[in-house]
Amino acid sequence: MNTAVIPTEQAPQKVKSYGRLDQQIILILDFGSQYSELIARRIRETQVYSEVISYRTTAEQLRELDPKGIILSGGPSSVYDNYAPHCDPEIWNLGIPILGVCYGMQLMVNQLGGEVLKADRGEYGKSSLYIDDATDLLTNVEDGTTMWMSHGDSVTKMPSGFELLAHTENTPCAAIADHTKKLYGVQFHPEVVHSLGGQALIRNFVYKICGCEATWTTAAFVEEAIREIRAKVGEKRVLLALSGGVDSSTLAFLMYKAIGDRLTCVFIDQGFMRKLEPERLLKLFKEQFHIPVEYVNARDRFLNALNGVTDPEEKRRRIGHEFIREFEETSRRLGHFDYLAQGTLYPDVIESAGTNVDPQTGERVAVKIKSHHNVGGLPKDLRFKLVEPLRKLFKDEVRKVGRAIGLPEEIVQRHPFPGPGLAIRILGEVTAERLNILRDADLIVRQEINQRGLYHDYWQTFAVLLPIKSVGVMGDQRTYAYPIVLRIVQSEDGMTADWARVPYDVLEAISNRIVNEVKGVNRVVYDITSKPPGTIEWE
Ligand code: XMP
Repeated sequence: MNTAVIPTEQAPQKVKSYGRLDQQIILILDFGSQYSELIARRIRETQVYSEVISYRTTAEQLRELDPKGIILSGGPSSVYDNYAPHCDPEIWNLGIPILGVCYGMQLMVNQLGGEVLKADRGEYGKSSLYIDDATDLLTNVEDGTTMWMSHGDSVTKMPSGFELLAHTENTPCAAIADHTKKLYGVQFHPEVVHSLGGQALIRNFVYKICGCEATWTTAAFVEEAIREIRAKVGEKRVLLALSGGVDSSTLAFLMYKAIGDRLTCVFIDQGFMRKLEPERLLKLFKEQFHIPVEYVNARDRFLNALNGVTDPEEKRRRIGHEFIREFEETSRRLGHFDYLAQGTLYPDVIESAGTNVDPQTGERVAVKIKSHHNVGGLPKDLRFKLVEPLRKLFKDEVRKVGRAIGLPEEIVQRHPFPGPGLAIRILGEVTAERLNILRDADLIVRQEINQRGLYHDYWQTFAVLLPIKSVGVMGDQRTYAYPIVLRIVQSEDGMTADWARVPYDVLEAISNRIVNEVKGVNRVVYDITSKPPGTIEWE
């Protein structure tokens, strides 16, 4: 059996906390569950701030961070694996309420002298939870409610001082507690949507057991963020690269509210945006929001940089490179800036220690693949200090903030659009002619979807141009022209996606209009590939 001693060199040097220390916080020790982030989101939905930190954080470090409660996440390991992640055993004596979820519960039981064994039958999927004690954690959780399970090991003997709160058909100890020490364990995952009583349980933990108050609100965030920006930036000037997406627009609004015209927004037009988008963006910011934007027309520069390039990665690389050079030149031209405002979000900064160690071999394994490879990423050698006021927020929280400070719905609810834009939706070489064709076809897709009120039904809707030609016939004339691919997908987060079952009449209208109105296109095809194995974009 593995002893739960943590060599000191394993403890993180400095505990990364992106939260505000004057704010009540629930900390999640991450043991590598794919749901650790989700727990943080669920807690934030109760209007209490929460962050994910490394499971190696020591009891001493936790005491300094002073959370109102601690949650131990699930994880892929068994407590008996050779390299199973263990937490500092001193955390049980901190006097801070702790909730162990799945692996987190098994670890708690194991370290406190109970027994965890491989169950005869694991339990995966939905289970009915039967409540034995509804005093605190399970108050208002309905007897027989559905909870979602995913475990091979089970608790067979509770540590002394613990009592049974609930069981399921296959799991005698599905929820347990030491009420006096405020230590709780649940074998199921209250954070996933399939756990019907899950949010009630989380609220009980946060409010009843940890004694938190609802302080994590959008209004409170905005007020505090503005105060922080002002304190940090002082009288200095800040540069911001605007793309028109929800993150950079929210950032611009927030920064402008905080420091007014000491903010300079730069919009670099690479020439790869959708038809009418650059004009629209400038109009919105200048005329409606009254936030000045420095427009840089760099279309020729980017098109030249892609001359003869057909490889998708090379396209991305060159666009990224040109963006940096252009940004540098513009910032020099506009004078001296001390700060650069960046729209970094919380998922970009979570340092998830549990996810990258194989529990059997102890070897480091690949960490989660980033969903984005943003060309907006700026080089390290730019001599700016960073101001990143959105770094505590999840994407849905950014939307709430954007809405709260007056960003219109059309930006708040905008579909994702890749940094390299249409350049990665033209397969093969990007030329001015192809860009014009794709822009026109893409506009028709959006118009047809929008006018039917279908925009919010889909994750993304767009056109792709293939660099091949096929034969068609139009008004007795033979045509030889490009095909357009329609890509319309549904997705929760862009990591997986399915092709949308768009009504035939909508597909028909889009196809007819594109072939009739866009010169150079004589065929429209619909992409019916899910992700995986396909990706959403074609390059
Ligand atoms: P894929 O094509 O990988 O796309 O299934 C997943 C999501 O990411 C977007 N995407 C990008 N976003 N820069 C971005 O900012 C990029 O280079 C990039 N490539 C893909 C894509 O639109 C989808 O929402």
